[in-house]
Amino acid sequence: MLSAITGLLSALRWNRCPRCTGFRNFEHAGWGNEAVAISYHRHLGEVTSGCIPELIRAASLKVGDKALDVACGAGYVAAAARHRGAEAVGVDFSAAQVRLAEQTYPDIRFIEGDAEALPFSDGEFDAVLNAFGLPHLPNPDKAMAETYRVLKPAGRFAYASWCDATKCIGFSMVYDAIRAHGSLDVGLPPGPNFFNYGDLNYATEMLSRAGFTNVSATEVPLVWRVSSPDAFIDAVSSGTVRAAAVLNRQSPENLASIKQYLRERVSSFEQNGAYAVPSPALVVTAHKSN
Ligand SMILES: C[S@@+](CC[C@H](N)C(=O)[O-])C[C@H]1O[C@@H](n2cnc3c(N)ncnc32)[C@H](O)[C@@H]1O
Repeated sequence: MLSAITGLLSALRWNRCPRCTGFRNFEHAGWGNEAVAISYHRHLGEVTSGCIPELIRAASLKVGDKALDVACGAGYVAAAARHRGAEAVGVDFSAAQVRLAEQTYPDIRFIEGDAEALPFSDGEFDAVLNAFGLPHLPNPDKAMAETYRVLKPAGRFAYASWCDATKCIGFSMVYDAIRAHGSLDVGLPPGPNFFNYGDLNYATEMLSRAGFTNVSATEVPLVWRVSSPDAFIDAVSSGTVRAAAVLNRQSPENLASIKQYLRERVSSFEQNGAYAVPSPALVVTAHKSN
């Protein structure tokens, strides 16, 4: 009950919030930076792609389906959907990501567009997929309404997002380090909680508000593999937007302590000379009504 009220208040706040523009512009500038897009592709693409088989299964994707990959980044999900026999399209609000996707998968159509104002007609798609895009949206309710709108009746939606902070060590330890040795209050435009979408109760309420039914979820035990603790720090600092911005705004002394904390935490996940940081994700699926 309490989480239902909290979700509703949060939705109302973000629906009306003029600050949404600030967060959207911040994320747009970050992902629009070609160096960030390339670094994400190099360091995180392999981690997030581990969810794709479950996403494709959850969306019941079949040959001939028309599928949309929202917040497509370099296009991994669109490529997998196409491989499954679907007619796939990718959309992302970053021109740099769309360029990278076009270079990586030249035979797939990628379009620049916002998840909260999808450039598609009502009822165009059998399935919509979204891999790790939700934590970057200022107004997830708007994005869910748009997702619902572009689906055909009985269409399927599947998304992947990091599990909550107690499980997703890869990202939670970055925030643990900053809380322990620096400050999270560095003047960034406020945005929704990064870990919300890996919580099935939160997901069910958010999807129900948009009209979705049959919500279910599966946890996927993703692992973030790095060659050294410093490679992990480099990946976060160069291949993310919000986490990198918080890190990059620390004082030099605090940043040195934060990095030392992260080196020690990553070192604890050593396996045969490499490092395997647990970073599970939740794949959630839901249906549009007939
Ligand atoms: C963490 S990356 C995920 C990329 C890819 N889907 C994957 O699975 O690795 C987040 C992506 O969401 C895109 N994005 C963020 N906000 C968006 C928005 N409002 N509309 C469309 N794309 C957005 C970013 O440009 C970025 O490519």
